[in-house]
Amino acid sequence: MPHDHPSDATRCARAPEPPRTISEPLAPPIQLSSVYRIAGLDEVDALFDGRAEGFFYARDGHPNAAQLADKLAKLEGAEAGVVCASGMGAIAATILTLAEQGGRVLLSEGLYGKTTTLVARELARFGVTHGLFDPSRPETLRQALTAAPDARLVVAETLSNPLLRVCDLEGIGAVAREAGVPLMVDHTFAPLLCKPIAMGTTLVVHSLTKLIGGHADVTLGAVVGPRDLIARIHAVASTFGQTGNPFDSWLAMRGAVTLPLRVERTSLTALELARRLDAHPKVERTLYPGLVSHPDHALAKRQFPAGFGAMISFDAGGRDRADRLVRALRAIPLAPSLGDAQTTVSHPCTTSHRGQDPETLQRLGVTPGLIRVSVGLEDVEDLWADFAQALEFA
Ligand SMILES: Cc1ncc(COP(=O)(O)O)c(C=O)c1O
Repeated sequence: MPHDHPSDATRCARAPEPPRTISEPLAPPIQLSSVYRIAGLDEVDALFDGRAEGFFYARDGHPNAAQLADKLAKLEGAEAGVVCASGMGAIAATILTLAEQGGRVLLSEGLYGKTTTLVARELARFGVTHGLFDPSRPETLRQALTAAPDARLVVAETLSNPLLRVCDLEGIGAVAREAGVPLMVDHTFAPLLCKPIAMGTTLVVHSLTKLIGGHADVTLGAVVGPRDLIARIHAVASTFGQTGNPFDSWLAMRGAVTLPLRVERTSLTALELARRLDAHPKVERTLYPGLVSHPDHALAKRQFPAGFGAMISFDAGGRDRADRLVRALRAIPLAPSLGDAQTTVSHPCTTSHRGQDPETLQRLGVTPGLIRVSVGLEDVEDLWADFAQALEFA
């Protein structure tokens, strides 16, 4: 069979030639290829040795992740970034890179339940130990570091989940830097509200599943920071199979387009809703950093000059009342995530903090009546009408 007249089987099997074009797509194409063609062995060497730029295997890197990582790194003022298969993938890859057997990871109190579980339960099986500190009181980190000369990493959240405690990023960053220990901040609840790297953070992590993806159709995460450290985290993420895929990277890139508008609008709506919830006789307490009653309000005002974000938590007064309330909501769904364009509620005790030690949850204030609201883009009056009728019913 002559080479230019291949059989049907051959024609079907072969990848097409790239289209001839003198133009480029304005929107980034989705590049789903799991592997890349390379001209020869010298080019393979050049790629592996970092002398040439390009891709060879999608688990190690692909154009959509590279573009997204670059955008996120620039947004956070970091040198580089890596996209992971989920927020937990990014957190796990970072901790796996920096933790060591016998080394300690210092966790801020009230972290997202799975982050605590990862260190306190899963990595404990490999000899990683941990200590705790209060993210709004840097002196507690200093004490924890003094007691733990073997500390390898400090972990905090800009806004904690679900109590919305505010991390004193400059104070915590200064103490970590003084001790020569890297600080990783989970910025999932607070994209664009402030820039942790400029405030002294080493690494910033996002669950892109949430506000950056923005449409409840992506599961992805990312970590950004110094180039050398990101290269190590990238290698660990690839080896542990934690890197992100092209389609979700493309979707997150698309979500990021409207991020500033969504952050601005949801911060305004959330402040108004929080005020109304706070004033409602059937709400036991409302937690929103923009309320004067929030324990970290003064710090929040300093740290978030343009708004306090999309997340509110309030206590409906016990599990039964919380259950009646979520059932009574007509349009706002119980959906245990956050950051979607539509408002959702979740119940931390049965979802994000499920399985955590009940005494610790009680001490921290993650009570059975606590409902977390992720405020979306709807009109505030429509949202309030739904909450108000559900509160009456509950
Ligand atoms: C603050 C925070 N960090 C990390 C994660 C984990 O993100 P993912 O679900 O994308 O793994 C979550 C998930 O809810 C979260 O709320």
